[in-house]
Amino acid sequence: MTRLVELEETGPRKLEPSDIDDEKGDVAVCRCGLSDSFPFCDGSHRRTRDEDPDETYVYEDGERRVVERVVTEAEADGNGNDSGNGDGDE
Ligand code: FES
Repeated sequence: MTRLVELEETGPRKLEPSDIDDEKGDVAVCRCGLSDSFPFCDGSHRRTRDEDPDETYVYEDGERRVVERVVTEAEADGNGNDSGNGDGDE
């Protein structure tokens, strides 16, 4: 599956010791792009659990829509990102 996400930030967010969850003792960084507390995970990734691997989604105003995937020239040439994150837990 692929997800189209709009982000408005233009620079990094440095993590601080105060970002550590007091109860869990860690920092969970959002990788799905849906968190309302971005860059931190807020559990919104649960909404992606039933995504079809062959579809591309947009989440907007609480709704999920399937959209046509835009194929870049690099992807069409076989040089595109495979959309995996390399950690093997997809
Ligand atoms: S990974 Fe995005 S909300 Fe958890």
